[in-house]
Amino acid sequence: MELKELVGLKAAEYIKDGMTVGLGTGSTAYYFVKEIGRRVNEEGLKITGVTTSIQTKELAESLGIPLKSVDEVSCIDITVDGADEISEDFQGIKGGGGALLFEKIVADNSKKVIWIVDESKMVKHLGAFPLPVEVVCYGSIQLFNKFNEKGYNPEFRKTATGDYYLTDEKNNIIDLHLGEILDPKALAEELIHLTGVVEHGLFLDCVDIVLVGTKDGVKVIEAKR
Ligand code: A5P
Repeated sequence: MELKELVGLKAAEYIKDGMTVGLGTGSTAYYFVKEIGRRVNEEGLKITGVTTSIQTKELAESLGIPLKSVDEVSCIDITVDGADEISEDFQGIKGGGGALLFEKIVADNSKKVIWIVDESKMVKHLGAFPLPVEVVCYGSIQLFNKFNEKGYNPEFRKTATGDYYLTDEKNNIIDLHLGEILDPKALAEELIHLTGVVEHGLFLDCVDIVLVGTKDGVKVIEAKR
């Protein structure tokens, strides 16, 4: 079994009847959502899902998982999502799939957050993975130039056909090729205060449990936050 599938199935074990569940986005969260769909249909599991992207909404609907929007629930019991990088102190980069904004809103409104990754995502310091920054389209080239002046090696995310990538909220993404982020909190503070930045992919002090898929099985790590 693929490591992504292994952790997706393991994460589903945390989900019990009556819960409101945040459904993450990406190729790892896919296996979690599929398993929740299977349990809803085959075992009669009763949950309400809150999705983190249009892509996951379509998947969950196709599997018959009952859904509500984030604004229709009082809170979310557990959110299970993937991540692009997790540092030794359990800070994360997310948004490789472009869903960082909705993912952060759902995570911020969750009592418990579980990240599911394969072991290649566990790193010492964040930053080898390009940091996604979601920006409004208006003035995005000005922001790009600012990032360039700061030496952040920005790159507009583009589609396979060369168009500017648009998020579910119809914003652009600028990926910052930073190499190494030694002070993620300072960077997060700086980015969120730039006019035109909607959100960034630094997910700090956000996760409770990390499930890491390794060739020897799933490692369960309780993160302190
Ligand atoms: C989606 O925008 C992302 O935050 C994903 O959760 C993250 O990129 C992990 O995706 P994979 O599981 O596909 O690697």
